[in-house]
Amino acid sequence: MSEDRVKLYRGLREVYIDRTNSSFINGKEGKLYYRGYNIDDLAVNCSFEEVIYLIMKGALPTLKQLDQFVSELRSNMTIPEPVLDIIKTIKNAHPMDVLRTAISALSAFDDDVNDNSAEATLRKGTRLTAQAPTIVTAHARIRDGLEPITPDPELSLAANFLYMLFGEKPDPRDVALIDKDFVLHAEHGLNASSFGARVAASTQADLHCAVTTGVAVLKGPSHGGAAESVMTMSQEIGSVDNAEKYVKDTLSSGGRIMGFGHRVYKAVDPRSLHLQDDLKELGERKGEPKWYSILQSVVEVMKPYSRKGINQNVDFFSGAMYFLLNIPEDLFISIFAIGRVPGWTAQVLEQFENNILLRPRLKYVGDLDREFIKIEDR
Ligand code: CMC
Repeated sequence: MSEDRVKLYRGLREVYIDRTNSSFINGKEGKLYYRGYNIDDLAVNCSFEEVIYLIMKGALPTLKQLDQFVSELRSNMTIPEPVLDIIKTIKNAHPMDVLRTAISALSAFDDDVNDNSAEATLRKGTRLTAQAPTIVTAHARIRDGLEPITPDPELSLAANFLYMLFGEKPDPRDVALIDKDFVLHAEHGLNASSFGARVAASTQADLHCAVTTGVAVLKGPSHGGAAESVMTMSQEIGSVDNAEKYVKDTLSSGGRIMGFGHRVYKAVDPRSLHLQDDLKELGERKGEPKWYSILQSVVEVMKPYSRKGINQNVDFFSGAMYFLLNIPEDLFISIFAIGRVPGWTAQVLEQFENNILLRPRLKYVGDLDREFIKIEDR
C-alpha cells in the first residue's frame, strides 16, 4: 500500500496485537477476569499472594503451593545495601522516579539478570514483587529522616507495606484494604504500562528492563497518576454542596474529571465498586465520611456522562482510601505499581513465549529532498 493511503490507528485504539490468557476485560458489561476467574470472586476470597501466584503461574495454588510461594516471596523482600544507598542519594525525587531507578539498579544484583528463560523470569518477577514494597517504604522513611524498617518475614506483603511505612504493626482491617487494593491492581489487559513492558521484552531485553519501563509508563496522570489527582480534586471540592458546581465548571472549561473514563470500560469499572464499599466503611471507621460523600456527589453529577461510556474507574475511590490510611499523596501511584508487578511479569512471560518484535510504523508527513546547506553557510 502506498504511504499516502495507510490507515492510521492513533492511540492504537481497538488494535489487537496478540493473544493472551492472562486477563480479560469485558468493557461493555464492566467485568474483569484474571486467568478466567472473575475479579469479584478473587477480590473477596483471595490474598494478594494467592493472586500473584495465579497471575504469574496461571492457576490458583493449593494450600501447600501457596505456603511455599509465600515463603519464597517473604525471603526475597530485602533490598541490597547499595540500592538503599542509591535511594538515599535520590531521596528528593518523586517516589515513582525512585521506584523506577531502584528497580533498574536491582538488575545489577540479580544473578538471573541476563537469563530470559521462563523459570528465571518467574524467579525475577517473584523477587521484584517482593522487593517493590520495601523500596517504596524505605524511600518514604529515608526522605523523612527515618531509618528504613526491615521487612517482617511473618507478615504478608500488604501488612509489611503498612508496617515498613509507619513502623508499627498495622490494624488487620487496614491490611485487608491494602491487600484487596493490590489484588484489584494486579493485572489489566494491554494497558499502557504493560504495553511498554511488552515492547521492552519484545526486543529480548530482560524483566528488569521491562518492569522499569512499566513503572515509567504508569507514572502519567492518564494512567496510574489519577488517584492522586482525584484526592486533590476532592480537597478542592471541599464539601458535598460544592461538587456540582466544581464538576460543571471543570467540564465547561474543557477539563476532565479525574478517576472517570477508560479506554476499554464503557460500563463502570468493576474494581471501583469494591473500592467504593471499602472507602465507605473506612470513612465511617475513621470518623471522616466526608470524602466518600464528596466522591458520591461527583458520581451523581457525572451520571449523564454514563451514556457516553464515561464512568468511574479504579482510581476514583482509591486515593481517598489511601488518604484515610495516612499514606502520603505522592505514594499513591507507587501502590498501584506494587500491585501491578505480577501483571507486568505475566505479560513479559507471554511475550517471550511467542515473541515478535513490537515495531509499528509512523506515517511520515514531513518535507522530503530539502536542499542541504553546510553548517558554515547556514
Ligand atoms: N472527564 C470528562 N470527559 C472525559 C473524561 C473525563 N475523565 N474521560 C474521557 N472524556 C471524554 C473526552 O473529553 C472525549 O470527549 P469528546 O469525544 O467529546 O472529545 C471522550 O470522552 C473520549 O475521550 P478520550 O481521551 O479520547 O478517551 P481515551 O480512551 O483516550 O481516554 C482516559 C481514556 C483514561 C485517558 C480518559 O478517560 C481520561 O483522561 N480520564 C481521566 C484520567 C484517569 O482517570 N485515568 C485513570 C484511568 S484508569 C487506571 C488505569 O487503568 O490506568
